[in-house]
Amino acid sequence: GASTPPPKVAHKKPIVIIVIGMAGSGKTTLMQRLVSHVQSSKKRGYVLNLDPAVMSLPFTANIDIRDTVNYKNVMKEYNLGPNGGILTSLNLFATKFDEVVGLVEARAENLDYVLVDTPGQIEIFTWSASGAIVVEAFASCFPTVVCYVVDTPRSVNPVTFMSNMLYACGILYKTRLPLLLAFNKVDVAKHQFALEWMEDFEAFQSAVEGDQSYSSSLSRSLCLVLDEFYKNLRSAGVSAVSGEGIVDFFNQVDKSADEYMESY
Ligand code: GTP
Repeated sequence: GASTPPPKVAHKKPIVIIVIGMAGSGKTTLMQRLVSHVQSSKKRGYVLNLDPAVMSLPFTANIDIRDTVNYKNVMKEYNLGPNGGILTSLNLFATKFDEVVGLVEARAENLDYVLVDTPGQIEIFTWSASGAIVVEAFASCFPTVVCYVVDTPRSVNPVTFMSNMLYACGILYKTRLPLLLAFNKVDVAKHQFALEWMEDFEAFQSAVEGDQSYSSSLSRSLCLVLDEFYKNLRSAGVSAVSGEGIVDFFNQVDKSADEYMESY
């Protein structure tokens, strides 16, 4: 008789971590650290590289977009500049993404984490249809967490912090997945200031208003928006270079995945 296929239900395993970050935030170094932590803690990891333009990766990827799409050829063939070339390469790869998820599903029982590296030009992933396809393809099968890498030393300026958080807020609303902020480079600057600003929006507001260029009514509204945003995320201070905070990072990943299981 007529039957509709059952809705896809997320398996408990593995947990997918999609790593997103501004250029220079240390995304690649953090990926390397996460991959080696998974290995050394005897967890089973699977690594995906979705950056077609990366020259060399400091870790081994199980699936690498560069094996399927040659970004330089795409640029020539479609007469595109570098960003157009990366975007088109990702679009071409996204059309086959169900096969990629199929490969992960086939090994799901034997995996704990799937680590996904995204293009260095963040907006190519966060504001493209193919980025959304990748996110949705994973999220419909596995508990999926988005990790947004923050350059902590560069965010000590309250206005920079605010724009960084607004960007992260956009990612949360666009992906509708659990978001984990990785405050990277804590070996250079501790992220305590960020925790205080996230905890107490009035403290943050006074810091922002110390910057004379800001209209106080706008900053007050934005601080209130962010206050609401912070209630919906987790964070961890990490150093990709020293390894500090990585154990806590994975604890936060696991908690985020639990939330995913409860609410999706
Ligand atoms: P793109 O390659 O441009 O996409 O940048 P990325 O975000 O992948 O950053 P990458 O890993 O290349 O790191 C950028 C710079 O930050 C490099 O000089 C790294 O050595 C440095 N860096 C990354 N993580 C840390 C960290 O935890 N501490 C310190 N001190 N430096 C870091």
